Amino acid sequence: MGSGDEVFVRVPGKINLCLAVGALGADGFHPLATVFHAVSLHDDVSAGHADDFSVAVCGDDTGLVPADDSNLAVRAARLLAERTQVSSGVRLTLTKRIPVAGGMAGGSADAAAALLACDQLWGTGLGREELCELAAELGSDVPFALLGGTAVGRGRGDQVTPALARGEHHWVLALADGGLSTPEVYAEYDRLRSTTSARDPEVSPHMMQALRTGESRALGAAMHNDLQPAALSLMPQLQQTLDVGLAEGAHGGVVSGSGPTVAFLVPDSEAALDLSVVLSASGACRSVVRVTGPVGGARLVEPVMHRT
Ligand code: C5P
Repeated sequence: MGSGDEVFVRVPGKINLCLAVGALGADGFHPLATVFHAVSLHDDVSAGHADDFSVAVCGDDTGLVPADDSNLAVRAARLLAERTQVSSGVRLTLTKRIPVAGGMAGGSADAAAALLACDQLWGTGLGREELCELAAELGSDVPFALLGGTAVGRGRGDQVTPALARGEHHWVLALADGGLSTPEVYAEYDRLRSTTSARDPEVSPHMMQALRTGESRALGAAMHNDLQPAALSLMPQLQQTLDVGLAEGAHGGVVSGSGPTVAFLVPDSEAALDLSVVLSASGACRSVVRVTGPVGGARLVEPVMHRT
């Protein structure tokens, strides 16, 4: 948990098992019905006492992450300080493993971790519920990063409820070269959708049933992402990634969130290894990561765990 001088938090990335998107609202957001699923690909965030606010970024793709006040983790820390009338600052260090701009809510995860870490560091003692309210102000995916597990997201994605879900699932994540901007993917979704009528977003009964039974094949068949055509339109090479994984017998394959990470559901760890070898050899993606889910949300950890 930290020695008192420094606090460590580990936070997972997410994939969306399904994502249904409604028509653009007056607030600039789209109403969603989604199933979030936290997976065993984590960022680590440490928080140390300081007079001012600063952030250092290490790990993968660090050049793409702003190391100034625009970083969502810094904004999270400032928001908590402001609401709890804390006058000190914090020195944040982010160790990135969740792909940047990858559709896995890495920035949101860091913000959730920063809230939890600063709450502990400053002794402000906010409960999960209050932290969740601040999280929703920071971004649509931030509350889920606090909660973790498997959860239904509604509203902008910020209203999260744990889902009745059974079993552990094996995933192969195909990471793409470069990222996609979430607002640009939603804008492309609006452009492609302009001729079709809006409908209320819903999580399908097939998905809810597959979550309840934990049956991998049924879950794979129920996976769907309304944003996938928009992500494919902006990054056509993702189709090849999907084709390779599905031809190899994955139970399902879907672009996660606004992409470009593609998540493949496979029956077991052996199938995950086989698929990761094929995907790597195909050249259809930048890199491949094997993960399991669900895992818990942001949590305080001992420094020794932080370094492993
Ligand atoms: O909430 P977050 O900061 O992650 O959203 C980034 C952008 O993605 C929003 O400004 C909006 O353009 C788009 N978005 C949306 N509908 C949502 C979530 C995000 O249109 N439900």
